[in-house]
Amino acid sequence: MSTFLPTELSGSAEKLIRGRHASRAFRPEPVPEETMRRIFSLAGAAPSNSNAQPWQVEVVSGAARRRLADALRSAHAEGRTSVDFPYSEEMYAPVHQTRRAAFGAELYGALGIGPDDHPARAAYDAESLGFYGAPHAAFLFVHGDGDARLAADVGAYMQTLLLAMTAYGVDSCPQGLLSFYADTVRTELGVTGGKLLVGISFGYADEAAPVNRVRTERAPIEATTAFHA
Ligand SMILES: Cc1cc2nc3c(=O)[nH]c(=O)nc-3n(C[C@H](O)[C@H](O)[C@H](O)COP(=O)(O)O)c2cc1C
Repeated sequence: MSTFLPTELSGSAEKLIRGRHASRAFRPEPVPEETMRRIFSLAGAAPSNSNAQPWQVEVVSGAARRRLADALRSAHAEGRTSVDFPYSEEMYAPVHQTRRAAFGAELYGALGIGPDDHPARAAYDAESLGFYGAPHAAFLFVHGDGDARLAADVGAYMQTLLLAMTAYGVDSCPQGLLSFYADTVRTELGVTGGKLLVGISFGYADEAAPVNRVRTERAPIEATTAFHA
């Protein structure tokens, strides 16, 4: 057995994990089908409790993507929201609210939207239902009863998928907002089972878009992690 204890990750792992960022403006060209198959095949290597793999993934492209974007915009205009996993602003502790506010200031600042310009923020969010212009979107459904534990498995799948995309040079944005239209997604895609956790828009980022220059920071390790011995 080797006695070598690595103190640093290999450059490629560091690059992969830190190289992933949420992109919010995409070029229209699609990801080649073979690349997509490799990405989603790799994502399936994600861990899950007892290897149950309780995810169902629905990927939309082309005409199906256009129809779904139209349906989402109509649902938004008509106020037809539906969530499978309840959401409330109150679920965040003050420290997490502070981080969210800092991120919001960064994002909307990059878009030239002021902190109190709520109509402009709402309009931008509504516009994002068009997948930020990405040619593809993946919808992650959680199957089975036992919300938090099964959703954790699908969360692990999500991050594995995001990293697989990064590895193949594909940019992405997880969009919790898409899960507020769960019934619309189900109806459009003919999905009957499962609960919608999140949608992920993906394709190739428009590097010239100022919004794609937004970079987020993370809390120091002391704030989130304790080592016991
Ligand atoms: C579960 C989840 C839901 C998210 N929902 C949205 C969303 O609705 N809209 C959006 O623009 N970004 C969304 N994001 C992206 C986050 O804002 C982003 O991951 C976070 O600010 C950290 O930035 P980074 O991904 O560039 O490192 C979501 C991310 C996750 C993991």
